[in-house]
Amino acid sequence: MKVVIACDHGGFELKEIVKKHLIASGHFVNDIGTYNIESVDYPDYGKKAAEMVAKGEVEKGIVICGTGIGISLAANKVSGIRCALCTNEYMAKMSRLHNDANMLSLGNRVIGTGIALEIVDVFLNTEFEGGRHANRVNKIMEIEK
Ligand code: RB5
Repeated sequence: MKVVIACDHGGFELKEIVKKHLIASGHFVNDIGTYNIESVDYPDYGKKAAEMVAKGEVEKGIVICGTGIGISLAANKVSGIRCALCTNEYMAKMSRLHNDANMLSLGNRVIGTGIALEIVDVFLNTEFEGGRHANRVNKIMEIEK
């Protein structure tokens, strides 16, 4: 799967680990930065990754900051984006099954590496359930109009 990954300085360490994991799992990763721990503004990275997902340049996006909050808020401002901040596998699973999330947000200062990689795997390997949930997701997207 084609995946864009982005982070700020607070998420850099985990972004590198997630990137290696994705490549080892056979995914095509577009890493749009940041590339070190120098302070940057998370909205710039959340927006850029979200725009790539919204345009269909990649199938999914993964964004990481210290808490996962700021960068998910920024990503969700881009039309067509449903970015889910997940702290456990259950949230990751439900974000796909029920919400058809197209982006995942992680907090490097909130969760450990092991949980983070399990969340990533569940997120990328779970399909949207559709059915009654499709109507609800459509209602979310209508709010953008
Ligand atoms: C940066 O210090 C921090 O505010 C950022 O990574 C993120 O946690 C914001 O939501």
